Amino acid sequence: MNSGQIAFSNAVSFPSLRSIQVRRISSVSERSANKVRFSSYFVQREAYRGAAVLRLNTQAPTRRLVTMAIDTQTMTSVRNDLVEMIKRTKAMPILVRLAWHDSGDYDARLGTGGANGSIRFNKELQHGGNVGLPGALNLLKPIKEKYPNVGWADLIQYASVLSIEVAGGPKIPFRFGRVDAQSENEVPPEGRLPAGGPPFHKAEGENPNEPAPDKEDAAAHLRRVFYRMGFNDQEIVALSGGHTIGRAYKFRSGFGAGEEGTKYTRAVSGVTKGGSSWTPDWLQFNNMYFKVLMDPNADPELLKLVTDKALVEDPEFNKYVKIYATDEAKFFEDYANAHKKLSELGSKWDPPGGIPA
Ligand code: HEM
Repeated sequence: MNSGQIAFSNAVSFPSLRSIQVRRISSVSERSANKVRFSSYFVQREAYRGAAVLRLNTQAPTRRLVTMAIDTQTMTSVRNDLVEMIKRTKAMPILVRLAWHDSGDYDARLGTGGANGSIRFNKELQHGGNVGLPGALNLLKPIKEKYPNVGWADLIQYASVLSIEVAGGPKIPFRFGRVDAQSENEVPPEGRLPAGGPPFHKAEGENPNEPAPDKEDAAAHLRRVFYRMGFNDQEIVALSGGHTIGRAYKFRSGFGAGEEGTKYTRAVSGVTKGGSSWTPDWLQFNNMYFKVLMDPNADPELLKLVTDKALVEDPEFNKYVKIYATDEAKFFEDYANAHKKLSELGSKWDPPGGIPA
């Protein structure tokens, strides 16, 4: 094996590694009984918190990282720390948005983008659609430092899944093991995420930021963006229900109110003030987003983006809006499935199949 990845089964052939789950190991050129040689550097076995861990001497600049073991105790501890931070900061909405923007740049045809943690790189954070998200990343940094053997892609997606749960939404199945993007070279071109209003851009192909031929058609835009990721109409509607939590801000996306807020957001004492919410109870995950969408007399202080309205206006989308507005259990079930899929778009797993939380 020269520059490929060492297989999980190879890794567990070491006696002391047999009982642990080993993630991402690459660039193996040869190995012997007690050490694995990573071309010009060595990995050695070491006991760490009850589990054997591979430690890497990262002298070779062109080589990819080796990831370590993650055991049940660590997974529980990461979960507890994330839940504590989420409850303390009430940052559920922006953590969900961070994860969705990391994975939502997946292009199934080109096989690039997806839930790989590339949003941590400045090049991607500076994309127009990601304004405000550095703040969300900062909330995760201390936890990342505490658990260096948990990858960025996993941490970002786990924080989102737990945010939905903390906000009262469904429990979304989660597994660890996403392989992290290693450099800015894996940041896809800007323009793959959806716009909230016209003129809409192409959102697919090599130049996604170019104007779309149907630049006024919001439903066509949603389909271009989400079909590119491999979603269908029902999943588009379910995922749009993510807007049942959170706000839009004039000073970020250009949509919604500024710091003055609305009657629903004015009293916010957190870091980010004001903005407009889609629902009155915007820190609660429920089916209120769909109820408001269906209500032509909804309070105009509640936000409806052009792309939100398209879900009511387009007959195929409308079918699902009606179902979710009246059947919250069905919304939760469909949302959980779609969110799980979103959280794993384009992910490469090490070990293969991941490690269920
Ligand atoms: C359907 C296409 C979508 C469009 C056009 C869209 C657009 C937007 C816009 C313009 C904002 C306001 C950002 C700001 O001003 O800071 C926003 C916020 C948000 N979006 Fe979306 N979004 C879409 C899909 C999704 C999906 C699929 C999810 C998650 C499953 C999601 C979750 C959120 C959340 C939670 C917020 C609130 C963030 C906060 O409060 O800081 N969105 N979205």
